[in-house]
Parts: sequence; structure tokens; C-alpha cells
Amino acid sequence: MADHFLIIGSGQAAAQAVQTLRQKKFSGRITIIGEETYPPYQRPPLSKKYLAGELSAERLYLKPIKHYKNKDVELKLGERVKLIDPQSSRVVLENGQTMSFSRLLLATGSHVRKLQIPGDNLDGIHYLRTIDDADAIAGGLRPGSRLVIVGAGYIGLEVAAVAIKRGVDVTVVEALDRVMARVVSPEISSFYMDYHKKAGVTIHCATAVTRFAGEKNRVERVETESGQHFPCDLVIVGIGVEPAAELAEATGLACRNGILVDEFARTRHPDIFAAGDCTNHPNLQRSVRVRLESVHNAIEQAKTAASNMLGEPKTYDDVPWFWSDQYDLKLQIVGLSEGYDQVVIRGEPGENSFAAFYFKTGTLIAINAINSPREFMLGKKLIAAKKTLTPEDLADQGINFVDLASKAIGQ
Ligand code: APR
Repeated sequence: MADHFLIIGSGQAAAQAVQTLRQKKFSGRITIIGEETYPPYQRPPLSKKYLAGELSAERLYLKPIKHYKNKDVELKLGERVKLIDPQSSRVVLENGQTMSFSRLLLATGSHVRKLQIPGDNLDGIHYLRTIDDADAIAGGLRPGSRLVIVGAGYIGLEVAAVAIKRGVDVTVVEALDRVMARVVSPEISSFYMDYHKKAGVTIHCATAVTRFAGEKNRVERVETESGQHFPCDLVIVGIGVEPAAELAEATGLACRNGILVDEFARTRHPDIFAAGDCTNHPNLQRSVRVRLESVHNAIEQAKTAASNMLGEPKTYDDVPWFWSDQYDLKLQIVGLSEGYDQVVIRGEPGENSFAAFYFKTGTLIAINAINSPREFMLGKKLIAAKKTLTPEDLADQGINFVDLASKAIGQ
């Protein structure tokens, strides 16, 4: 059979895989099958500039549609794969069509986690993952309208920042005792909490939502365990994502909090690879398995997958990084802070420019940089090179960070 590389999913990882395959002069057939009707696009602006109305949908596209034609890539959009038959190397689409593949890339991404409580099917309750979701929300962000956001993670807080600027009355309800608890330390959480409060957002932490209520099938109220009622015109739920691994699981591929792949982005089937949010992969730096939700992960793991699909060995061992834009605060996160035992803060929180350095038994493992691009860039190099920079070095604010880091990296 002539080479046919089939990609399931049409997000960032799919787009990158195509790019790398053609850059590496793969001349065989490539097909992308995606359930959304848009070509691969950037999701991060959906909760930022796109929601604020500062970007058109076309500006989100990673490449214009004609690019895929030029690269001889077939885009099958608005189509879902029903099953994969690994024995015969074929997939069956929900429309009944069958396609053979010589290599398969699962780039299925993630799904929003749904809040399953009474009233969850009322109109006016939204999630934010796609262009269509953002369009549906944007229409409701009117001055004076009341928005309740469930979840104070990336999505919840980014949407809060956009909505408050548009004159919306914003209340955020978070289950844990602080905001962005999954990704930042308590010091950073309280900085963000204060910043949102000053902007006019009301945040309730340690508050469990138990019910949505409303007349005429439309949400009018969010109720909590402790008996509080928050009246609303609109609800946005941002309580995390789950890997889209159902298809892989049904195919018999090993999955555990994502599709299990090795550092070459290979599943246990020799012709099936996976990349992006849907995978659970080794992080060689920290010797742990991780599932990452980030553009950087989608891009770099897809490059790895594409190389290995072509038989060119390449490992994926990048230091993870993430970002979040809220108001005029650019938060850049590098590394994985899990298991840290010490945090050193440098810079000026009062001037909205500072960084938190996370250590584990004296080793720098992660940095949260707020409006501090130098700390982020150099910190990335420090962590990647596993260079020692002690908490004591950093704690001395009299020593310039660039000098300190450059010396450690050896530049
Ligand atoms: N009620 C209230 N809050 C909840 C509940 C609940 N039942 N369940 C979870 N939460 C909170 C979590 O404690 C966390 O603070 O929701 C927040 C979810 O935050 P994230 O995990 O960052 O997820 P989300 O904001 O939905 O973003 C999902 O989208 O921005 C992209 O890739 C990015 O990883 C991010 C993903």
C-alpha cells in the first residue's frame, strides 16, 4: 500500500505534524480528520483577545485553508472517527466511510470536564473550548449582565478579566481554597486574587456549587452547598479538561490519564502514535509521567511524533511551559512545580513584575514569571541545562538575575 499518514484530530498537534512531515519531504498522502468544522486554530486567544472581540475567527487559523491544499493535505472537517481497527490498519468514520492508513497519529486533544449537578442542562450555561463556544459566550457579555464563573483556573480567570472590562458583573466560584491552585503557589494565588478584586471581580473560594436553578429552562441562579444564591444571566464553567482518549481505549491501546506513549510519541502499536493534550508521556527531566495541557507540548510532541512516523528517531524531552494573560499581567510558567519544598520570590509584586522560583531539595524545578520575560527565558535555559542556582543565590535581591543566571548557564 502507498504511504498514507492519517491524523485524527484537527488541533495544534495535527497542524504541527503536517508541517513537520512536509518539511521532512514526506511525499505520501496525508489526511486530517477533525470533528470541528474549522481548520486547525489557536485555542488560547478564545478566552482572551478573541472573546474580547479583538480578533476575527480567521486570525485564529494556524494556516489558511488553501495552505493544506498547497501541501497536498486532505482536510476532512466536521467528521468523526467511530472506530480504529488496528489489525487491518483501517478507521471507520461515523458516516460509514472506511480509510486505510500506514501510520496513524492520534491528536485528539481534550474535552472539557462537565459539572454534573441538578440544573446542568439549563440554557445559559456555557463551557469554553471551541470557537463556537466563544461565539456563544461573547453575545452574553453585555454591560450590566450578571455572569457567574465556576472554576478559578486559567479559563475562569481569563474570562473574568475580559468580562469585567466589558462592564459585566462578574462572580467567580472556586471549589478549592485559592485561585489557580493547580499551577501556582499560594503567594501567586493571593496576588491574582487581589488583582481581580481590585478590578471589581467577586471571588468566592472554598465554595462548592451544588445546583443551577431557573424558570423557563434558563439559568437564573447558582446555588452553593452553604446555601448561598448567586443570581445570574449567564454561567461559564471552567473546571478543567480531560484527555480525549476514548477512541484509543476502545482500540485496546493502553491509557491511564491519557494515551500512554513513550518519549518517541509511540503507543504500543508500531504504526500508531499520539501527541498533544491527549497523551500521558514521560518527562525525562523529572523522571515522572505527565499529561500536559499546552500549546508548547502539542507542538513539540507532534514534531517528535512526525519524525518517528518517518522512521527518524527523535525524543521529546522539553521543559514544559505555559502562559496566561489576565488584564495587563502576563504569567509565564516554566517547569513542573509538583513536589516543591521552597519558593523564592524576586522582583516587585507591588509593581506587578516579579517571579517565583520553585525548588525541590535545593534544585530549581519551576518558575512563575509575572511580567518578567527575562526571568522566564533564562529560567527555561537554567532548568533545561539542570544548572545549579541555589535558593540562597536567588534570595539576595542585590544580585542582578541576568548576571546570576548567565554565570550559572556559562554564557
Ligand atoms: N466547582 C468549582 N471549581 C472547581 C470545581 C467545581 N466543581 N471543580 C474544579 N474546580 C476548579 C479547580 O479547582 C481549578 O481551580 O476549576 C479550576 C480549573 O482550572 P484548570 O485546571 O486550569 O482548568 P480550566 O481553567 O478549565 O482550563 C482548562 O484550558 O486554558 C486551557 O489548556 C488550558 O489547561 C487549561 C485548560
